[in-house]
Amino acid sequence: KARANIEVNGKTYATDLMYNVPPNVLASTSRKLHLQKDHPVYITRQIIESKFPAPTYKYHNTFDPVVSVHENFDSLGFPPDHPGRSRSDTYYINKDTLLRTHTSAHQAQLFRASESDGFLISADVYRRDEVDRSHYPVFHQMEGARVWDREKVPNGDIVAAIYEDLARLPTHDVKVEDDSPAFDAERNPLQDGHHSAAEAEAVAKHLKRSLELMVVEIFTRAKAAAARQDPDFVDEPLRVRWVEAYFPFTSPSWEMEVYYQGDWLEVLGSGVVKQELLINAGVPSQVGWAFGIGLERIAMLLFQIPDIRLFWSQDKRFISQFVGVSDDLDQMKRFVPFSKYPACCRDVAFWLPSTSSSAAGGGTKASSHDFHENDVMEVIREITGDTVEDVKLVDSFTHPGTGRKSMCYRINYRSLVKTLTNRETNKLHAEVLQAMVERLGVEIR
Ligand code: PHE
Repeated sequence: KARANIEVNGKTYATDLMYNVPPNVLASTSRKLHLQKDHPVYITRQIIESKFPAPTYKYHNTFDPVVSVHENFDSLGFPPDHPGRSRSDTYYINKDTLLRTHTSAHQAQLFRASESDGFLISADVYRRDEVDRSHYPVFHQMEGARVWDREKVPNGDIVAAIYEDLARLPTHDVKVEDDSPAFDAERNPLQDGHHSAAEAEAVAKHLKRSLELMVVEIFTRAKAAAARQDPDFVDEPLRVRWVEAYFPFTSPSWEMEVYYQGDWLEVLGSGVVKQELLINAGVPSQVGWAFGIGLERIAMLLFQIPDIRLFWSQDKRFISQFVGVSDDLDQMKRFVPFSKYPACCRDVAFWLPSTSSSAAGGGTKASSHDFHENDVMEVIREITGDTVEDVKLVDSFTHPGTGRKSMCYRINYRSLVKTLTNRETNKLHAEVLQAMVERLGVEIR
């Protein structure tokens, strides 16, 4: 069966059976909030860029969101069975092409181009996910990397070169907890075929200081903004910690967490670049670090924005609050929420479809291996646009006799722009039920 072509940012792509991008997500590819002056995502990018100055770092802000499966996964060492590759997690254009799930998709090409000692990429990224106030199928990330070349540093002494660069970075006086060793043979190995311990340690020190300086800048600006608006604002000292992490394309790897309102919040992933990547990119003599950070999450802290849907709002009451900030970051203020409209909850309870094996008889019980929660989330988003605040699973059970599985989700309808009447909510909800039956094959209970 022939499949339609689709267009993304003026380019045409042939789709196939892997295609799973709903119209609302496809439409977001043209928004590019990170390039929209005075938008909080743009302002957050500006603040981060200010801590990674040119010409050491070169900025790339216009890479297209359509990339190959190779760029997004293979080139970064993701194993063939990695769950991130599945159609329930990732938006595919066709079997070889997808909407990038992270800015790391562009690492290899920039290492290969080797135009600068470092780079920063800002871009929109796409992931199928749940519906709540901090998840949206499109968000923005920044990727950063810094490399040193064994063949270009004085006397081939990479360690000395890195410590010299480290000495040129400013210091800060924020308390940083960093209890994990520089590397751990099992959890977080040194790439000992490629780097000496001293080299990996030097890279790690430069990475950590650079990223600490970035969060210090963000939180200093956030506090200044709060104090401008609220003279009674009490400053709490920033707390930062490094924890071991795992990514297929760095080792050792770390996440940075920041203490915020009683919880440790993960803000970025980072690590020493896997040497295979640099070798495959034709620059085997380079050594370096990379990080990736989600911009909406940082912007939500910076501006006190309570709901991620607001970033996509064209409502003047949102946009107008940031006008002029791009040209003068010292004018930055926290977001002042406009009235919150009432919520309207509706439940949807359904039986998952039986699979063909049970339909064919033979005593096989119904199974639901094809069902993924993200499919429910996506149908709801597609039908309701941005009028649902969150969706939660409230009940699930398997019928002891038939083996069929039942699920119940609670959909919290709440518009950002108006009060939904019962009538409007009922209409939307009826459309959701119908779409779930048609597209997911469920049976409403
Ligand atoms: N791409 C990773 C993510 O999206 C973040 C990351 C980037 C980690 C670079 C390490 C190095 O989670």
